[in-house]
Amino acid sequence: MDLEQIVADAQVAFSKAADAADLENRKARFLGKAGLLTERLKGLCKLAPEARKTEGVAINAAKEKIEAALAARRQSMADALLNERLASEQIDVTLPGRGQEPGSLHPVMRTWERIEQIFRSIGFEVADGPEIENDWTNFTALNSPENHPARSMQDTFYIDGNDASGKPLLLRTHTSPMQVRHARMNKPPIKVIAPGRTYRVDSDATHSPMFHQVEGLWIAEDISFADLKGVYADFLKNFFERDDIKMRFRPSYFPFTEPSAEIDMAFGDGRWLEISGSGQVHPTVIRNMGLDPELYIGFAFGSGLERLTMLRYGIDDLRLFFEGDVRFLAQFA
Ligand code: FA5
Ligand code: MG
Repeated sequence: MDLEQIVADAQVAFSKAADAADLENRKARFLGKAGLLTERLKGLCKLAPEARKTEGVAINAAKEKIEAALAARRQSMADALLNERLASEQIDVTLPGRGQEPGSLHPVMRTWERIEQIFRSIGFEVADGPEIENDWTNFTALNSPENHPARSMQDTFYIDGNDASGKPLLLRTHTSPMQVRHARMNKPPIKVIAPGRTYRVDSDATHSPMFHQVEGLWIAEDISFADLKGVYADFLKNFFERDDIKMRFRPSYFPFTEPSAEIDMAFGDGRWLEISGSGQVHPTVIRNMGLDPELYIGFAFGSGLERLTMLRYGIDDLRLFFEGDVRFLAQFA
């Protein structure tokens, strides 16, 4: 077969290649170890020196042409592939964007901010304190001495590490330790709220292991249970922005208040719901604040922020607050 024919055959063969793998297979027939051109080169040694020279030059020229044809075909295949991708992955700039939408505050945080705003407007300070507490501030100072049955009212998360007195540190089970922390650092009259995270070994549709409370404390020489009632009724009216709120104080027990009451509320003729613990601060707690219970008196309350948020928006399962589902959260944007 003459060289011109081999080159022509190679050009046809390459142009018919279906894909890159097929092209490399076809290449072997011409340029491979047992390919047509290689066979020709092997035959050179049988030729006379002059003929060997002309034949050698001709074979190399043919080889270059075949290699050029191969390279051209490879390139055109790569181009075709790229064009195909460009066409199929084309961006339609007229489609609406998928970009990031502005975020919004979590509904519980909205409640938190709203509560701060309402209480500031009636002269309360806002205080903040540690989530890792010591035994004394979370329990003992609040009139729950060791082995007191009231301690088991709240299932506690203990953490590795002890406080200065050798007692294990814990995640605060309520915001009430802020009563003592704040009162020990400030002079009466004390008028403060302390919103924040709290933790309990607790989990169902109305209880979460991490939840939020807001503590309220007003200590002075003449603050009565009637003031608690007035302040709380006013707060509820402002918080829910409704006139059909009913509120009642149901006798209860907390070691740190005497008397103690749960605060229940209802909309119109709706069902009563417990939203808060409350009471007149116990003389022992006043003493642990460094104050004289003969001189100072006051009230405290501790309300659940998730609970208030559920009522405000009509949500019946508080686990929704912690699942991070944007479809739920976006409704409060
Ligand atoms: C207390 O924690 C008291 N410290 C409240 C208090 C403060 C009483 C000051 C008197 C004076 P209680 O355990 O009932 O009380 O919790 C108060 C509120 O926190 C409850 O009414 C509820 O709204 C909320 N709460 C309690 N446990 C959980 C929980 N696991 N998940 C979500 N909310 C909770
Ligand atoms: Mg309760």
